[in-house]
Amino acid sequence: MNYTFLRSTILVLLSSGLCHGTGVLTVDSIRRAAGESVTFTTSVTPTAEPFLALTWSFNGTTNVVTSTSVDVVGQGYENRISLDRLTGSLVLRNLTEKDTGEYELIIIPYGAPQIQGTAKLVVLTKVSILPTACPTEDLIEGKTSVNLTCDASGVVVTRVWTKDGQPLASGHRFSFHDGNRVLSISPVDRKDTGEFLCNVSNDFSFDTAKCNLKVYYGPDRPDLSQKPIGAELEDSVTLICSADSLPKADFVWTFNNKKIYGSRLYIHEMEWWHLGRYTCTATNAITGLEASVFHTLSDSSTSISGSMSMMVCTVLTSVGLMLV
Ligand SMILES: *[C@@H]1O[C@H](CO)[C@@H](O)[C@H](O)[C@H]1NC(C)=O
Ligand SMILES: *[C@@H]1O[C@H](CO)[C@@H](O)[C@H](O)[C@H]1NC(C)=O
Ligand SMILES: *[C@@H]1O[C@H](CO)[C@@H](O)[C@H](O)[C@H]1NC(C)=O
Ligand SMILES: *[C@@H]1O[C@H](CO)[C@@H](O)[C@H](O)[C@H]1NC(C)=O
Repeated sequence: MNYTFLRSTILVLLSSGLCHGTGVLTVDSIRRAAGESVTFTTSVTPTAEPFLALTWSFNGTTNVVTSTSVDVVGQGYENRISLDRLTGSLVLRNLTEKDTGEYELIIIPYGAPQIQGTAKLVVLTKVSILPTACPTEDLIEGKTSVNLTCDASGVVVTRVWTKDGQPLASGHRFSFHDGNRVLSISPVDRKDTGEFLCNVSNDFSFDTAKCNLKVYYGPDRPDLSQKPIGAELEDSVTLICSADSLPKADFVWTFNNKKIYGSRLYIHEMEWWHLGRYTCTATNAITGLEASVFHTLSDSSTSISGSMSMMVCTVLTSVGLMLV
């Protein structure tokens, strides 16, 4: 059967008859995800007698289905539709974005006014994040710059980046490119260690991708302490060196050109030859950085023959920073 012929016949019937133009469809605007189905439901009460003719068209020109004594299914709609001939309701399955447009129903009953209705359908593809590689190289504070990308298929309406659940805004180290597709961090900072999430979404779907970043840093300037502070000859004394660092720093003490490894240096019985300048050097195997601080170990019974406060003062001022 010739659709064009049928349609023009229907149009003639329509223009000659009483065209009420009633929106007989129950919903006039529908959104669906690709792959889903849509049902265009009419408010037509089924009667015992079938209609003279019924036609569903797409975007004004394309025949979806035209039903008289037989059904003519438009090209591309085979196996995708189910038509209820008594009400005119239509089910359209396996939707793709190409199905986006206007659907029109025209019903010509026997001896009654024509019934018509239109509905707009929007088919959106669910957003889906494409596999994205997280940086695998070592990220070093202040040195490495990194780009995180967030590619997605489907119609992406929003793209939001968060770090440990908090939205990220562009700032002096963070910048967004290509409509938020790329988050550029230049350079990375220890504060960036954590979970970065990219959330892409449209009206009815979202998808997320995450990257866990670990930023290596340090060592920071070491902290030195002596226990006990006011050690005298023949006392036990421990020097302790610590420094913030990721990964943990390695420590070496240098005293009189001798190296002693470890963060704690223990002297069981302090003798005069133990006195002098101890340098603690912290190194970080990944950042390649090192930092040193020295401490002068002295006999508090001879070096300070006065008040306690003077002694504390001497110890504090003898701790200095030595950059290597
Ligand atoms: C429609 O989708 C279903 C599953 O979603 C699939 O099995 C079927 O083959 C599809 N039919 C057509 C005509 O594409
Ligand atoms: C149908 O019409 C809509 C707008 O009314 C348009 O966006 C869409 O591309 C058209 N589809 C086809 C297949 O012509
Ligand atoms: C990150 O992306 C920006 C903008 O596209 C580019 O200028 C920069 O060179 C990239 N940086 C790295 C480390 O790839
Ligand atoms: C992603 O965005 C959508 C839409 O705004 C929201 O509903 C969802 O909770 C977000 N998901 C995550 C993990 O942030």
